[in-house]
Amino acid sequence: MAFTGYNETWRLSRRIFHQTFRPDSALKFRPMHIRRAHEMILNLLDEPQQYNSHFATFSSSVAMSAVYDYESSARDDPLVRVVADALDIGLAMMTPEKAMSTDWCPGSSIKRDAQVSTNRTNEMMDVPFRYAKQRVVDNFIESRSSMVAENLRRMEKEDEAFKPMFETALKRAATTAFAGAYETTTSTLMVFVLAMVLHPDVQKRAQAEIDLVIGRDRLPTFDDRTSLPYIDAIFRETLRWESIVPLGVPHATTSDDVFDGYLIPKGTTAACNLWGIARDERRYPDASRFIPERFIQDDGTLTDDDPARYIFGFGRRICPGRHTADASVWSAIATMLASLDISPAKDEQGKVIDFTPEFTAGLTRHPKVFPCSFSPRSHVHSELLDELRTAI
Ligand code: HEM
Repeated sequence: MAFTGYNETWRLSRRIFHQTFRPDSALKFRPMHIRRAHEMILNLLDEPQQYNSHFATFSSSVAMSAVYDYESSARDDPLVRVVADALDIGLAMMTPEKAMSTDWCPGSSIKRDAQVSTNRTNEMMDVPFRYAKQRVVDNFIESRSSMVAENLRRMEKEDEAFKPMFETALKRAATTAFAGAYETTTSTLMVFVLAMVLHPDVQKRAQAEIDLVIGRDRLPTFDDRTSLPYIDAIFRETLRWESIVPLGVPHATTSDDVFDGYLIPKGTTAACNLWGIARDERRYPDASRFIPERFIQDDGTLTDDDPARYIFGFGRRICPGRHTADASVWSAIATMLASLDISPAKDEQGKVIDFTPEFTAGLTRHPKVFPCSFSPRSHVHSELLDELRTAI
């Protein structure tokens, strides 16, 4: 869907998408976001070295639930594997150097990779969709909501002739929703943890805010959000500091246009430099530094500058998952800050392991795995963790 031109199929997929992920509709997923964030904390404490895979599990389980009403297992879920494998191959092909390469270049593997990617993508579209459809047929989920279930019920009221087109659009929109959510949410959490490892002072201030506002006996919920402005400032700075979709998704002009005296012919590829906006020194002095305080006013409230207004793109093709992204990333970072200390990893002699952050390249980017450590905060005792385990 994200790479489809502006046409009827796109419009239908976008409409389907919007019905589930518009702000008021996305609210119903909030309890699930919090529950999955708690599960992520337990995973991080059980296996801290695998933190990137726990972020991927969080992102995929949130998406699987919202899109297919599929309750994935805490680790190594088979259906999540089908989808994640397809995405790994597909996204690895979308790098600038691959885009420059042509299949006649000696050694180019682009055709072969494309074939494998197509097969995996078809599997990724079909397998979870069949699962969700079967559940609707079995009448399992009258009371439960998911993008596929809601729309299959809606489809029942449509004309027979329209149903095949609707089902194809739904399948596409569902796959795109999962793909759009999985990589971006995981990448944003990687950026957040990198920032916490490099800026312990920021983490301390955030934890002090949480302790003061909600105490130490429970974990944050969405009801606390407006009372935790510094957590939101960290969230904004995370989106801004290392933009994970630096050039947005490329588009093309549908007709000739003239801008600033330049003719832009029909069909020209146009990319929006989101990275450039986020790193503009006039708007963000010392832009390469992680400074959440830039979003806090003297009276402690948030400023009007929210990077979410540009980091998700613009206009007709603006990211339709932005409200869900906002809820899932907020729940994950607020829960992590309340319950964990995130710090640089140490070697066997207790010396901090130095590292230089490195990033992947491509349509989306994220920090490569770096050494870091997760431990429970001093008040997070085993009873609280047991409570979380039972609640999940
Ligand atoms: C922090 C997380 C995310 C970021 C930074 C992000 C960013 C973006 C950007 C920059 C675009 C291109 C917009 C444009 O062309 O102007 C986009 C498109 C899209 N995103 Fe996201 N996104 C995020 C999370 C999500 C989530 C959670 C979902 C699904 C629930 C999602 C689904 C999509 C879809 C379907 C499109 C294509 C829309 C279209 O072409 O009509 N994204 N996203």
